[in-house]
Amino acid sequence: MAIGEIKELPKSWAMLGGDGPESYTQNSSYQKGVVDASMEMVDDGIMEKLDLKSLGFESTNDTFRIADFGCSVGPNTFFAVENIMKAVERKHLAQFNNSAALSGFQVFFNDVTTNDFNTLFKALHSNEKYFSAGVPGTFFGRLLPRSTLHFAHSSYCLHWLSKVPKEVLDSESPAWNKGSIQCDGLKKEVTKAYSAQFQSDMNTFLKARAQEIVGGGLMVIITGGLPDGVLMSQAGIGMYYDLLGSCLINSVEAKPWRLKKS
Ligand SMILES: C[S@@+](CC[C@H](N)C(=O)[O-])C[C@H]1O[C@@H](n2cnc3c(N)ncnc32)[C@H](O)[C@@H]1O
Repeated sequence: MAIGEIKELPKSWAMLGGDGPESYTQNSSYQKGVVDASMEMVDDGIMEKLDLKSLGFESTNDTFRIADFGCSVGPNTFFAVENIMKAVERKHLAQFNNSAALSGFQVFFNDVTTNDFNTLFKALHSNEKYFSAGVPGTFFGRLLPRSTLHFAHSSYCLHWLSKVPKEVLDSESPAWNKGSIQCDGLKKEVTKAYSAQFQSDMNTFLKARAQEIVGGGLMVIITGGLPDGVLMSQAGIGMYYDLLGSCLINSVEAKPWRLKKS
């Protein structure tokens, strides 16, 4: 088998659980920065676009339901959902002048089944003012009943494809990526294959959320991107992935009994 011809890939890649030195909990300050940077935009979006009156929060004591898709093990997910709750409370105050109190929040924490939900729930403070539930499973499919959610959130997750397009792994295909772990943007067929996979995954994600979110609900998606005309190989992260990819290939070459280079 040639390097890069990978026949079987694991079905899911959960972050490293627990709270040890290599855990996601201890190594996700970059992603925390992404959540922090989006907070003001989320606040503004809620203030401008969320109409609690038309969602029925004036006349009923309904619970405001939020889901974080791809929550991992924390703590970033807690900062994100708590910020959403504060912004919704501010909007409630602005719309109703506190005449009808919001009866509470429920948060659905979603990630793949192999995610360390124990660490996530251990870190939830016991005095949290919201109800919480874990929702294991892929977000590329329905996870919640129809019209359940008022707010869907997903940060730094949707660049995870459901699978590596098979043509980039096939040495016979014009889209073969020669063992590279990324879409560096240099080969048109490779870019086309990754972009078709992304389109199909996004379509599936959005169709599922469209059924789960109530009419008038909001969704925030935070994901990586590049300005038009900039290739992945020209961006800092692309150079980093190149280096990481060559380290992985070197470590495979150092173990020839496991994967032989042809
Ligand atoms: C980099 S982490 C981001 C976690 C968290 N949102 C944050 O900002 O720290 C990406 C998460 O997406 C999850 N993920 C990837 N693909 C997924 C899928 N198809 N369904 C559910 N979760 C997924 C991973 O398991 C991982 O926990």
